[in-house]
Amino acid sequence: MFVRKAFVKDAPDIYNLVNLYARDGLLLPRSMSSIYEDIRDFWVCEEEGKLVGCAALHVVWEDLAEIKSLAVAPHMKGKGIGGLLVRACVEEAKQLGIRRVFVLTYAVGFFEKHGFKTIPKDKLPHKVWGECINCIKFPSCDETAMWIELDTCVEELGVVDLRHEV
Ligand SMILES: CC(C)(COP(=O)(O)OP(=O)(O)OC[C@H]1O[C@@H](n2cnc3c(N)ncnc32)[C@H](O)[C@@H]1OP(=O)(O)O)[C@@H](O)C(=O)NCCC(=O)NCCS
Repeated sequence: MFVRKAFVKDAPDIYNLVNLYARDGLLLPRSMSSIYEDIRDFWVCEEEGKLVGCAALHVVWEDLAEIKSLAVAPHMKGKGIGGLLVRACVEEAKQLGIRRVFVLTYAVGFFEKHGFKTIPKDKLPHKVWGECINCIKFPSCDETAMWIELDTCVEELGVVDLRHEV
């Protein structure tokens, strides 16, 4: 299994995986249109030619990006795929020179293992909340805001390996 940047052909599988969890309110639903528009944000995990995980790194501002649509196929959970996808997004953020990566999540313990810390929601810019209108829980958001602060090191950019194998 390995993690790579998404191809356009991955969009239908990303759609199915993300919306599987959106039905339970764990993720925001995504339209096919939004996935195609943001396909360059996505990382995917492939196992024997099948897409078994995805995550998107979405740049919000000069020093801030969000991990969105993180999902691992139910039968593949607990094998480290979620962790690989988070690491790929964080490494990409470093490459881009971004100082903070945040997430709105119910999986607090999972993100703590990857260096994220809980923060007050009001530390995030208003711009972030624009799409919450699409959430079934709007306006009673009970997700936790977390972020990781990064030491970006521009001179190392040439040696960051964005392909992970397990
Ligand atoms: C959260 C998710 C991406 C983790 O993916 P994964 O491939 O199973 O994760 P990994 O195998 O890398 O890590 C597993 C570890 O994370 C922990 N973990 C998984 N989901 C968790 C959750 N919701 N809350 C707290 N910890 C969680 C596991 O207990 C496990 O801990 P361990 O290593 O001590 O045994 C996956 O469970 C998922 O797709 N969940 C549904 C969608 C979702 O909630 N996405 C996150 C929204 S921000």
